[in-house]
Amino acid sequence: MALVKAGALAAMGPGSMTEVREGDERVVVCNVEGALYAIDNVCPHAGAPLAQGALHGHMVVCPFHAWEFDCRTGECDFNPAVVQRRFAVTVRDGDVYVEV
Ligand code: FES
Repeated sequence: MALVKAGALAAMGPGSMTEVREGDERVVVCNVEGALYAIDNVCPHAGAPLAQGALHGHMVVCPFHAWEFDCRTGECDFNPAVVQRRFAVTVRDGDVYVEV
């Protein structure tokens, strides 16, 4: 496990999604009304980068075919068998870190 800096909290305001890369890992950090969540950024359907989609409340909408994932749980809205990995997020001295 590595603690990876995602960016300054001030630059990751509510409603934003930020992609974080560490080695082969791709993570998207979501800010839902000030609460931060992180899930796998690679859509399990066809590999789209979820961070380039939209954040509707706590739902991440894939930019390719609009599958939706709850960034709090990783669950896909129409198929509960599909669950994105989640990652721990911490804020330290104004910066956001993800445990990858
Ligand atoms: S690649 Fe995400 S829904 Fe198809």
